[in-house]
Amino acid sequence: MAQIIAEVSRTFNEFLLLPNRTRTDCSVGAVDLSTPLVRHRVGESPAITLRAPFTSAIMQAVSSPELAIALARDGGLSFLHHNQSIAEQAAAVRRVKNFKAGFVVSDTNVRPTDTLGHLLEVMRRTGHSTAAVTQDGSATGRLLGLVTSRDFHPQRHGLDGPVSGRMIPVAELQHASSDITLSAANARLWDERLDCLPVLDAEGNLQFLVFRSDYQDNKRFPHQLVDAGKRLRVGAGINTHDYRDRVPALVAAGADALCFDSSDGYSDWQAEALTWVKKHYPDVATGGGNVVDAEAFTFLAEAGADFVKVGVGGGSICITRDQKGIGRGQASAVLDVAAARDAFAARTGEYVPICSDGGLVHDYHMALALAMGSDFVMMGRYFARFDQAPGAKLPTRDGFVKEYWGEGSNRARNWQRYGQGGQGLVFEEGVDGYVPYAGDLHEGLAVTMTKIKSTMVSCGSLTLPEFQASARLTLVSEQSFQESHANVAVRETAPTTG
Ligand code: IMP
Repeated sequence: MAQIIAEVSRTFNEFLLLPNRTRTDCSVGAVDLSTPLVRHRVGESPAITLRAPFTSAIMQAVSSPELAIALARDGGLSFLHHNQSIAEQAAAVRRVKNFKAGFVVSDTNVRPTDTLGHLLEVMRRTGHSTAAVTQDGSATGRLLGLVTSRDFHPQRHGLDGPVSGRMIPVAELQHASSDITLSAANARLWDERLDCLPVLDAEGNLQFLVFRSDYQDNKRFPHQLVDAGKRLRVGAGINTHDYRDRVPALVAAGADALCFDSSDGYSDWQAEALTWVKKHYPDVATGGGNVVDAEAFTFLAEAGADFVKVGVGGGSICITRDQKGIGRGQASAVLDVAAARDAFAARTGEYVPICSDGGLVHDYHMALALAMGSDFVMMGRYFARFDQAPGAKLPTRDGFVKEYWGEGSNRARNWQRYGQGGQGLVFEEGVDGYVPYAGDLHEGLAVTMTKIKSTMVSCGSLTLPEFQASARLTLVSEQSFQESHANVAVRETAPTTG
């Protein structure tokens, strides 16, 4: 007969934190959200410390280079998705590693023979008004000229003529070589009254564009997550099928951390794959998962995982519980695995961080996940809502939405994540839909971080280890839940004052 676990499977919604005494030195500005990413000896520092406890989900709809750059600039880490070819994923890693603040990889590019009509179309799509004209129309092709929306008028110049007729040729442009620093580039932009300074390599290929407006931008991000060479850090998802080829390519491209991405990581395949990676690349941080209980955590920790992801069936786009009847309430899973992590640390002297992955609906759920022992969290829906996420932004009657689809949906068909006995998906384990658009990641995350810090202040904590050690949680009854949702009609417009 099957074993029945007596404890009920609980979700974050069922808990609240009790405030602890708040000392006078405890303020939002003083809270430090840094947290270990990888396995380390107890009492020692990990090789990688996140400056903010957020990672983005290993998903097509979430972890693109643009999102990875934005998140690392705010102190978190993206795991670029592996539902693409090895060459594409390695190129995505390189894009993040090559990012230099203020140096923009041109996203609006045309060939000299393209028509002005095509140029207009590309500008409309990207929303940018400066286009690079390169020999092959790529972002890194040989630069032939620049053309901006001020250089042509659709009625006056027609849309059928070639871009070359209206571009400013490279011979007449000011440009810089690759060794230029941002402050030197900025000085030239002002001194020479330029709007844009192209940066070229020795062969005349375009590398970056520098715009005036981006320079100040650099000062907005005091907590960037960077490597020893000051390059942004980036992670990459891997799978148990092609890791022997994928891992070397990702490491060569500069990935700072890898993570096996599986809907059920408690398997011999994952243990074997982890052992292989740690044997060939002992210094490359490699996480495993997903698991929902102590036994599975210990299995992966013993197989060499540098961190372990927790969560089965709780993701917003997930239908695994409906399809297969497996999973566990995320709060119960985190509490159980956190206890196992602490027991493992006491037994071996090695601290293996854990990550709560999926099912974080409200910002306060993140605070609960951290209080319950997660070292950091992973989110898909949350990040999919921002400008930097790859899903299309679409207008609706009530505003904008962004596309968001699960890796187990027909759109993504990530069979490497969902073992269904062969190559391909037999049945869907995720849905394809939309989430409310939330603007710029930096601005949205700043609000979320302030909320989490305020929660920590109420709980009298200045650091995440302190928060975890002292948090007191209570279960909420149906009645007490209703108490805080009393029926007040919410005012739609701001009250007039005065
Ligand atoms: P969210 O933050 O609640 O949207 O959950 C994101 C997490 O859901 C990811 O990090 C994955 O662990 C998981 N996930 C991604 N795609 C699917 C899917 O199609 N089905 C089930 N779970 C998924």
